[in-house]
Amino acid sequence: MLASLSSSLPALMAFAWPPEAYLWFKTLHIVGVVVWFAGLFYLVRLFIYHREAEELEPALTAAFQNQYALMERRLANIITTPGMVVAVVCAAGLLSVNPAWLKQGWMHAKLAVVAALLAYHWFCYRLMGQLQSGSCRWSPKQLRALNELPTLLLVIVVMLVVFKNQFPTGAATWFIVALVVFMAASIQFYARWRRLRAERLAAEGAADGAAG
Ligand code: HEM
Repeated sequence: MLASLSSSLPALMAFAWPPEAYLWFKTLHIVGVVVWFAGLFYLVRLFIYHREAEELEPALTAAFQNQYALMERRLANIITTPGMVVAVVCAAGLLSVNPAWLKQGWMHAKLAVVAALLAYHWFCYRLMGQLQSGSCRWSPKQLRALNELPTLLLVIVVMLVVFKNQFPTGAATWFIVALVVFMAASIQFYARWRRLRAERLAAEGAADGAAG
């Protein structure tokens, strides 16, 4: 049953689109993807600030966290999710223009990565709910690491769509992988350096206060 559905799906999706439909779908697909990713990247960054606000004085913590909660909801509902919907709807449009893509290996791999992205999107909503109810247990450090995941998925999807069935596995690919890992590690080290410096300055300030 599943096999017959997958073989008849391309035929079912083949509408008679006007010639320029493919280019319109692709244009809007790329715009949707850019908006979706801008939202995904900034959303988890806001989660990090939201959790870090717990280190402020209690009065400031409440004010900052209320503001971050508002920004998160607006970013998720007005930018990130609509971007995802435009990207996915236009992707369906692209597939209906050329259903033969559904039989190709690179498209199966792309759909698998997109499923992971959709799961990440859903998980961000779950974290947002936890942050807003004060029950989030993810530390800022863990959230920073989580924020690297969409970068990796983005690189894989763009490579799949550009190289298609000729996905490269040579030196250039490993260079790109190393670059992504280096960038992710640099962000973690920079955050650690900033935290240690803030702790040192606070300790020096306290020592000066005690001496004065
Ligand atoms: C919902 C699942 C998706 C499907 C079914 C899909 C399908 C497609 C198809 C059929 C094309 C046209 C390929 C061509 O013209 O050669 C395309 C283009 C493209 N897609 Fe997707 N896509 C999906 C999600 C995504 C995501 C999540 C990203 C980014 C992370 C993405 C990035 C791109 C880019 C950059 C292009 C333009 C490539 C080019 O013109 O060479 N797609 N997509």
